[in-house]
Amino acid sequence: MRVVIAGGHGKIALLLERLLAGRGDQAVALIRNPAQAADVRQAGAEAVVCDLEAASAGDVAPLLSGADAVVFAAGAGPGSGAPRKDSVDRAASVLMAGAAERAGVRRFVQISSMGAGQPPRPGTDEVWAAYIAAKTAAEDDLRARDLDWTIVRPGGLTDAPATGRVRLAPPPVPRGTVPRADVAAVIAALLDDPGTRRQTLELTSGDSPVAAAVRGIS
Ligand SMILES: NC(=O)c1ccc[n+]([C@@H]2O[C@H](COP(=O)([O-])OP(=O)(O)OC[C@H]3O[C@@H](n4cnc5c(N)ncnc54)[C@H](OP(=O)(O)O)[C@@H]3O)[C@@H](O)[C@H]2O)c1
Repeated sequence: MRVVIAGGHGKIALLLERLLAGRGDQAVALIRNPAQAADVRQAGAEAVVCDLEAASAGDVAPLLSGADAVVFAAGAGPGSGAPRKDSVDRAASVLMAGAAERAGVRRFVQISSMGAGQPPRPGTDEVWAAYIAAKTAAEDDLRARDLDWTIVRPGGLTDAPATGRVRLAPPPVPRGTVPRADVAAVIAALLDDPGTRRQTLELTSGDSPVAAAVRGIS
């Protein structure tokens, strides 16, 4: 399987690249900073430089040629303001989904966030509200497309080691945290299971082994 990962030097992305390479799949990491190529290669992926805030769907579609799936793992990240929540968390996902349609790549796994899909509570911090609005708009865009999409909304991400055990279910799942390594394992399993298409799933740490959790909702 050839999997193109947007935000290919992200923390989840690098973990996913290692998992994919370890099972014999080909990962292609889209990065905007060429200096990150060495890390990506070390994770077992091919690096392709593409700034998702500067590219058009016409620029990105050829990069998806021959791919079996796209994973949207990009994000403006902590420290960024509201405009970049819109230009990365929303617009870059819309860009990738449009490029996937053009390239005929049907499978699309989007990393969203718990909290998306509902208006932020009154009094919420402006940047958090912009982040949730961006993730919600990216989800809505993807759901409207004729793609085999799966939306994954993790809870608070940690850098703890993988536990291999998660709670994965349609919303609402009670708030919680989840190691990025477990998110990467869930995404790798979702890519293998087209039965999970057209589902929006929330993800925290839990009791189910990853494979069983994914089988349980497919
Ligand atoms: N933090 C949480 O608790 C939490 C909870 C739920 C969901 N999430 C979401 O989970 C996803 C992955 O999280 P993570 O921690 O793995 O993310 P991360 O480490 O912050 O990685 C995000 C990646 O996106 C890349 N990116 C940003 N702008 C880009 C652009 N214009 N073109 C190409 N790439 C660009 C960044 O590259 P640069 O190095 O070039 O900036 C970075 O490699 C994000 O969408 C995040 O919003 C986070």
